[in-house]
Amino acid sequence: MGSFALLLCLGLVHCTAAGERLNEGDSVAEPSKEGELAQAQKLQVKFNLRSSTNPEDKGCSLSIGQDKCLEDCKFNLTAKTFLIIHGWTMSGMFENWLGNMVAALQAREKDANVVVVDWLTLAHQLYTDAVNHTKVVGMDVARLLNWLQGKQFFHLENVHLIGYSLGAHVAGYAGNYAHGTIGRITGLDPAGPMFEGVEPNRRLSPDDADFVDVIHTFTKETLGISIGIQMPVGHIDVYPNGGDFQPGCGLSDVLGAIAYGSIGEVVKCEHERSVHLFVDSLVNQDKQSFAFQCTDSSRFRKGICLSCRKNRCNSIGYNAKKMRNKRNSKMYLKTRSDMPFKVYHYQMKMHIFSYKSLGETEPTFSVTLHGTDGDTLPLPLEVLEQIGLNSTNPFLVYTEGDIGDLLKIKLTWEGSSQSWYSLWRELKSFWYQTEKSSKELQIRRIRVKSGETQQKLTFCAEDPQLTNISPGKDLWFVKCRDGWETKNRTRLVLNQL
Ligand SMILES: *[C@@H]1O[C@H](CO)[C@@H](O)[C@H](O)[C@H]1NC(C)=O
Ligand SMILES: *[C@@H]1O[C@H](CO)[C@@H](O)[C@H](O)[C@H]1NC(C)=O
Ligand SMILES: *[C@@H]1O[C@H](CO)[C@@H](O)[C@H](O)[C@H]1NC(C)=O
Ligand SMILES: *[C@@H]1O[C@H](CO)[C@@H](O)[C@H](O)[C@H]1NC(C)=O
Repeated sequence: MGSFALLLCLGLVHCTAAGERLNEGDSVAEPSKEGELAQAQKLQVKFNLRSSTNPEDKGCSLSIGQDKCLEDCKFNLTAKTFLIIHGWTMSGMFENWLGNMVAALQAREKDANVVVVDWLTLAHQLYTDAVNHTKVVGMDVARLLNWLQGKQFFHLENVHLIGYSLGAHVAGYAGNYAHGTIGRITGLDPAGPMFEGVEPNRRLSPDDADFVDVIHTFTKETLGISIGIQMPVGHIDVYPNGGDFQPGCGLSDVLGAIAYGSIGEVVKCEHERSVHLFVDSLVNQDKQSFAFQCTDSSRFRKGICLSCRKNRCNSIGYNAKKMRNKRNSKMYLKTRSDMPFKVYHYQMKMHIFSYKSLGETEPTFSVTLHGTDGDTLPLPLEVLEQIGLNSTNPFLVYTEGDIGDLLKIKLTWEGSSQSWYSLWRELKSFWYQTEKSSKELQIRRIRVKSGETQQKLTFCAEDPQLTNISPGKDLWFVKCRDGWETKNRTRLVLNQL
């Protein structure tokens, strides 16, 4: 036993005072020979049990090997244990989200042990050095878990590691080095630089826990670098809004840019969005967001992937259902720009008939939805490539509020020239005598599928004689009366899946 252990035995380390850190130099008085370095390193990773909901409370320190601390800290061995692992830090201090996360976990799981893994001194370094430290910190987390496993009633399957940014990879290492299989790891926008494309044992991967779920929020590549890892690294990998741009964060949002004032803040906004989405899933249980499996973001944006068959959809964040049969399964959803983040997704399929030449016109459509519980503003139909004429076009539409059961749809062909270029095209087509009246398409039906309820409905032109639409004009659609048209499926309440 080195002098460090002796120090502990003498009771010089108090479980209840996380604030009383051993300062370098004074505490580990005359540390013994070879253990010196290892112990100094150990002291830099602290496990802080937050039992009080008071954010001012400094919590209670757990020391590996100190059974008394478990008692003093009132660690509940039969309850769930959450370990929150922060990432790289420029300030050397905890960021504000940490308190929100602790409070949200405590509110959701009353008996749970909520432990903050404090590796601030090792994370407050050059990024490359902090990356180098993820392994030792992960090993320390594993040491804590291995020690706890020696206690009666403690089970590794009740352990849930929640790691943000570099902390996600720390959790991955913990999974590698723990004896047995950790219940769950949630990776919140795992760090990309120096982890993208590396082998699974050097980053978070599905092998690290029984269930590994990941939320990717900042995977936009700038100068070849993406802050958040782009590749899927869990059993399920959720990419909200495609994972590369979060509403309310970007510079394209002028007010947002002014409010945030700096690029750094924008980066933080997008990266940290993963944390807020997770906190949202803890506190807004009645507004659970759902994600849908899809091969890529552009297919999702076309509205192709809103299926829940064969576990293709799942709640995101804390409520995600365990899916170990999947691996690197990419899932997508749209979100609002703040809490609660939930939106309601719809797939709209329209067969667009074209009997007259449109010239160079690219139609731009929007839909206005009327439901039993409310209406929407006109929602633009995003066209990623080109609208297919004489073919069926799928679109993704989403609403921020729940409009209830869909009753009516207004389809609008947005009016003429909105840019000099389109004006030029208008003039050109005028010059070449393309008649204005020739810009006409025919749409007879809109097939709608709700992502959230999985209900499918077909809407027919309100007046079956009136199915033509031209620029600046509207067409109204109502639920088809014909029994053949309406596929009335039992409403699937996702929350009960
Ligand atoms: C410990 O957790 C278990 C399981 O959640 C719970 O039933 C029990 O009441 C808790 N014990 C204490 C002392 O809080
Ligand atoms: C990481 O640590 C290893 C040895 O511990 C060292 O060789 C390597 O240069 C370090 N990498 C960086 C980027 O600091
Ligand atoms: C669509 O089909 C109609 C009828 O078959 C045909 O007259 C028309 O030229 C087609 N339009 C396009 C753009 O292919
Ligand atoms: C759909 O089915 C439900 C339950 O069977 C029924 O109450 C409802 O009227 C049906 N709706 C339509 C449009 O057929």
